[in-house]
Amino acid sequence: MSIDLPLGSRPEEPISPIGGPRRYPAEVTARLADDAATIIARYPQARSALLPLLHLVQSQDSYLTQAGIDFCAAQLGLTHAEVTAVATFYTMYRRSPTGRYLVGVCTNTLCAIMGGDAILATLQDHLGIPAGETTDDGTITLEHIECNAACDYAPVVMVNWEFFDNQTPSSATALADELRAGNTVVPTRGAALCPFSQTSRTLAGLPDPRPDTGPASAGEATLAGLRVARANGMTTPEAP
Ligand code: FES
Repeated sequence: MSIDLPLGSRPEEPISPIGGPRRYPAEVTARLADDAATIIARYPQARSALLPLLHLVQSQDSYLTQAGIDFCAAQLGLTHAEVTAVATFYTMYRRSPTGRYLVGVCTNTLCAIMGGDAILATLQDHLGIPAGETTDDGTITLEHIECNAACDYAPVVMVNWEFFDNQTPSSATALADELRAGNTVVPTRGAALCPFSQTSRTLAGLPDPRPDTGPASAGEATLAGLRVARANGMTTPEAP
């Protein structure tokens, strides 16, 4: 039996791998180099800092540019091709400009059947853009996302990688309206949202300026299966 797996970029991704400016202004390079030094110092080998550095340069232009790739290569002693190979593997690294808020609708199996497809279709209509595009006011970039391991709260929407659980088409459009109005929006877990550029800096490992909301605990839906298993004396087999 053969299985045919079509591989390629996501439907909304631009064909050209990475574009944008080729160089940063000197002051931008100096500022990013300061931040990069802090990040690189955490690793025994500089090249291990590539993933956080890609988030750092993404915070500069809201997407990866040729300038960002060259910056990472120069900081880490890698080639342009090596950095590009890593950068184009992970979908969190964007190849086109991102709005203030990256709104991702999970359309993987569980979220899709629980309403994720309907949410994405409704948001596309409501915002007047297809997935992969940004609203004219630069507020929202809409995209579909793959499973983010929050299936027990399906369907989920993520904004700048923060979870909004158990969404519906109407709650998702209300969320989009709040974002476009510039109101403070708090996800299901964690502190209020910040702009995509700040989220990228936080993902790079730089300080998160938002107040600490403490450790997240497992929610009701996550623990339900565990309770059923315990009530019925179910156990997992011993490891061989
Ligand atoms: S299928 Fe949507 S979070 Fe898993």
